[in-house]
Amino acid sequence: MLATDQPKTFTLGDRSVKRLGYGAMQLAGPGVFGPPKDHDAALAVLREAVASGVNQIDTSDYYGPHVTNRLIREALAPYPEDLVIVTKIGARRGDDGSWLPAFSPEALTKAVYDNLGNLGLDVLEVVNLRIMLDPRRPAEGSIEAPLAVLAELQRQGLVRHIGLSNVTPAQVAEARRICNIVCVQNHYNLAHRADDPLIDELAREGIAYVPFFPLGGFSPLQSSALSNVAARVHATPMQVALAWLFRRAPNILLIPGTSSVAHLHENLAAAELNLPGDAVMALDGP
Ligand SMILES: NC(=O)c1ccc[n+]([C@@H]2O[C@H](COP(=O)([O-])OP(=O)(O)OC[C@H]3O[C@@H](n4cnc5c(N)ncnc54)[C@H](OP(=O)(O)O)[C@@H]3O)[C@@H](O)[C@H]2O)c1
Repeated sequence: MLATDQPKTFTLGDRSVKRLGYGAMQLAGPGVFGPPKDHDAALAVLREAVASGVNQIDTSDYYGPHVTNRLIREALAPYPEDLVIVTKIGARRGDDGSWLPAFSPEALTKAVYDNLGNLGLDVLEVVNLRIMLDPRRPAEGSIEAPLAVLAELQRQGLVRHIGLSNVTPAQVAEARRICNIVCVQNHYNLAHRADDPLIDELAREGIAYVPFFPLGGFSPLQSSALSNVAARVHATPMQVALAWLFRRAPNILLIPGTSSVAHLHENLAAAELNLPGDAVMALDGP
């Protein structure tokens, strides 16, 4: 593989992180509910991520619920000094595993304390407010009330930096009038590019854009363009999908999720994968 000339780090809040990180959601049981099939294998993935240089991990206390954060704590505490754990609040899980909005001041405050307790931290480095006006996609509507609650928890010293998830550009603008926003985490990948203008705007403002489902999430990406480019550059389609995101904009931070050490290594190697210009055009194409 040819080394890429893309920047490898980004300043998230006031911390320098490697742009290629790890998303921990896949570590919980099926449907992100309950314990993992193999507890020790889940710990091994987390330890291998950090041993391989990952210093940015995405999680939430509603993964499991509580399961993913407790695995992170068991595998990694006491945490390396350079590790930034990004979590999110705004949802809770029903007894049947359903994803339910949780935006009352009490629910948001409890979520911050649950994250602190289960991760074993005194302060959360970055907390994303995950908006659920429509759980599946960003939908317009004011986010002032829940954001004011999170900003107050920040003033109390429980949260260092605030981010947003599943939001529209108008909601990002509204939020930035209320408090400093360091990252936006929305659905984006090769096959889902509605946020192109938002990514460019955030890049100009120095705000991180963190695509969730970078590999397609529960239905991994598949296309002939992806397979053709992968064959040409001697990489896997998943590596090409990540390399394309990595070069899309310098403010993009990647958090591919996996429960497999082999996939973890494959994904991390994508930061070194150079895509020739015509390969990028083939991927960019309609
Ligand atoms: N803010 C939000 O609303 C939101 C929503 C969803 C996710 N997230 C965050 O975003 C992170 C990433 O999303 P995600 O994990 O759902 O989806 P993803 O990263 O797009 O894809 C994960 C899926 O791809 C598979 N995979 C990973 N690496 C692979 C490889 N090299 N080759 C083949 N298959 C591979 C995984 O299976 P294996 O386990 O078998 O590798 C898993 O099924 C999550 O961990 C979570 O932290 C946030």
